[in-house]
Amino acid sequence: MVQTNQWNAGLYDAKMSFVSEYGKGLVDWLQPTPGESILDVGCGTGDLCAQLSLAGANVAGIDFSAAMIEAARQKYPQFAFEVADAHTYRTDASYDAVFSNAALHWMKRPAEVVETIWLALAPGGRFVAEFGGHGNCGQITKALRTVLARKGISADERSPWYFPSIGAYTILLEKQGFHVVLASHFDRPTVMAGGGLGLSHWLNSFCSPFFAGLSSDEIQQVCTDVTDILRPALFQEGHWVLDYKRIRVLAHKKSAKNTLHGGAA
Ligand code: BEZ
Repeated sequence: MVQTNQWNAGLYDAKMSFVSEYGKGLVDWLQPTPGESILDVGCGTGDLCAQLSLAGANVAGIDFSAAMIEAARQKYPQFAFEVADAHTYRTDASYDAVFSNAALHWMKRPAEVVETIWLALAPGGRFVAEFGGHGNCGQITKALRTVLARKGISADERSPWYFPSIGAYTILLEKQGFHVVLASHFDRPTVMAGGGLGLSHWLNSFCSPFFAGLSSDEIQQVCTDVTDILRPALFQEGHWVLDYKRIRVLAHKKSAKNTLHGGAA
């Protein structure tokens, strides 16, 4: 499995806080209400759990990274956090909603994750997620492919990411029995903090699976070469603006009373 648990939670909070900042808009799709129970899949250091709880919801979070969960527990001791792999996670709880921001693209067996989410939801429960869609970071991926090929490395074979089309993902949800209420695939140019260093922070945070087996000098050279290729297209007025494309979905687990489309509610 390519999913990484080698996260540096401090670096993530310091340099990658845009991940949860952008995720705040996703909370509007969920519209959490007081007293309901919500599971955050891929909760990272817990910032969006805190956001969800502002509405009075009871929030729990899971993440594959022990470092992220440790940081989340320190920041938000009031919530229940657990280290878990969403491909195989099972719970006795029955949640009113499952939420996930910027996590599902790290999970390369999506049908298993969709089943996990389905089983964690109560009948009538809703699933709201955002993650990378088809073509996400396409220019970065192309540059990585070019530079790593010079070393005989296939970036595609090493890619830790799942960036589906909207059609492919909604079909997975429907096969599981979900009713897909809303789905959107949109460009979201994403400005990195850190000025000229923004891309190198991003490469260091998100690209380690591509660099397996390389020395730190080689990794540095790869990052420099990738940066040189991308600068004309993605460095604008002192900031790196990355070519993000996102998918957002809202889907319902049909309740026993609402099985018009024949799903296994
Ligand atoms: C993100 O979470 O922002 C992300 C992670 C991997 C690839 C692209 C984007």
